Amino acid sequence: MPGRSLSILLGVTGSIAAYKSLDLIRRLEGEGVSVQVVATRNALPFFPVLTAEVFSGHPVETDLFNPVLPRGEGEGRVSHLALLEKADAVLVAPASADFIARMALGLADDLLSTLLLSATVPVLIAPAMEEAMYRHPASSAHRKTLRERGVVEIPPDSGPLASGKSGLGRMASVDRILETLLPVLRETRPPSGPLSGVGVLISSGPTREPLDAVRYIGNTSSGRMGDALARAALARGARVTLVSGPTALPPPPGCDLHRVATAREMEEALGSLFPSHPLLIMAAAVSDYRMKDPVPGKRKKDGGEWTLSLVENPDILKGLAERKKAGQFLVGFAAESSLDPDRLLEKCRNKKVDLLVANDISRTDIGFSSPENEVTLVTPAGGFRTLPRADKTAIAGQILDAVLASGWTPPSALA
Ligand code: C5P
Repeated sequence: MPGRSLSILLGVTGSIAAYKSLDLIRRLEGEGVSVQVVATRNALPFFPVLTAEVFSGHPVETDLFNPVLPRGEGEGRVSHLALLEKADAVLVAPASADFIARMALGLADDLLSTLLLSATVPVLIAPAMEEAMYRHPASSAHRKTLRERGVVEIPPDSGPLASGKSGLGRMASVDRILETLLPVLRETRPPSGPLSGVGVLISSGPTREPLDAVRYIGNTSSGRMGDALARAALARGARVTLVSGPTALPPPPGCDLHRVATAREMEEALGSLFPSHPLLIMAAAVSDYRMKDPVPGKRKKDGGEWTLSLVENPDILKGLAERKKAGQFLVGFAAESSLDPDRLLEKCRNKKVDLLVANDISRTDIGFSSPENEVTLVTPAGGFRTLPRADKTAIAGQILDAVLASGWTPPSALA
C-alpha cells in the first residue's frame, strides 16, 4: 500500500461553486489524498468552514498573519510557508475571475495568493464564473498567462449559472477535476506499493451485441467489480489500463480507459494491450453469443415472429492465454449457478488461467449488479479458498493480495 499519503493544498475563492469543494474534499480523502484548505476572504460567505474542517481533518486557513507557529515548533520560520511543505500540488477550485487575475499579476496580498507565489509544485485551477466574465479578453489573457507558466486549467462546464442564465462557466464536475488532478499528483510522487509501476490490464462490465441499429443483447453486469479492481491496483502503485464495456460508472481517476461495446471490440482492444501488461484480470461479463447478421437500421414490426440466429463469440480469455509469455499472470472470472469444485477446477485448467475467481449467480445478494460479492478462488494446482461476502472494494483488494501471495513476481519488463 502507498507510503505517506499524497497531499494537496486546496484554495477556495469567492464563488457560489465553493459548495462543491466540500464534495471534492470528501472524494480526495476517499482516494487517499490529504487536503489542506486555504480559503480567501471572499470565499467565506459561500463556504461552510466547519464542515470543511471536519471533512479534511485540518483547520481551514484564511489569514496571512495567522496562525503563528508556537514557540519551539519551527520557531523563526515564516509560518504560512509551512502550509506548502506537505503539498504535492495546489488546486484552486473554484477559481474566481478576480483570483485568476491576481494569480496572473503575481499579487500576494492574502494567504492563498502568497502561497501560490511561493509554490514550486504543480498548480491547477478550476475556473467558475459567469460566461461573459470567462470570455472577457482580460480573463482570457490572464488564463493564457497562467497556462504559459505551466498552470493546468480544468475548463468549466456549460449549464445553469448563478445569475439564472445558462452558459459556459460552471466549475468542472468533481469527477472531471479528479480525472485531471490525480494523474498529475501520481506523476509527482508515484505511489509505492507491491505493484509499483506494474502494468495491470483489467476488462470490465458487460458487452453489447447489436440485433439491429437500436437493440442489443447485453447482461446485468454493472462493471463494479472491474472498477474496484482498477482502484485497488492503483492504490498498490500499478499502472492500470481498463477496457470497459458500457457501464454507468465514471472511470477510476488515474487509469487509462478504453471504452468498447461488443465482444469483438473488446477482443481487439485487449489483444493489442495484452503483450505490454504483466497482469491481466478478465472481470468482464462477455456475451457468449452475437447476432449472426445484425439487421441494418431499426427492424420494423411485421406481425410475425423474429427468430434470432446467434453465433458464438470468440473466447477472449482463452485466446489471450494461448499467447501468454513468461512472467505474465492471468486471472479469469466465472459466474456459475452452482460452485461445483470439479467443474471450477476444470474451467480453471481449460481456460489456462493462473487464478479463477468464481461467484454464485443463483444468489441475489452478491455478484453481477450488487455492490457486494463472495467469491471462491481456484488455482490450477487445485487450491480452493472462499473470500467471505464483503463489498467489492474489499474483495478486489483480497484478489490482488492473493495474486501477489501466489509466488508470481511481477517482471521488470516483458520479453
Ligand atoms: O466460460 P465463461 O464465460 O464462464 O468464462 C468466464 C471468463 O471468461 C471470464 O473471465 C470472462 O471475462 C471470460 N470470457 C471471455 N470471452 C468470452 C466469454 C468469457 O474472455 N467470450
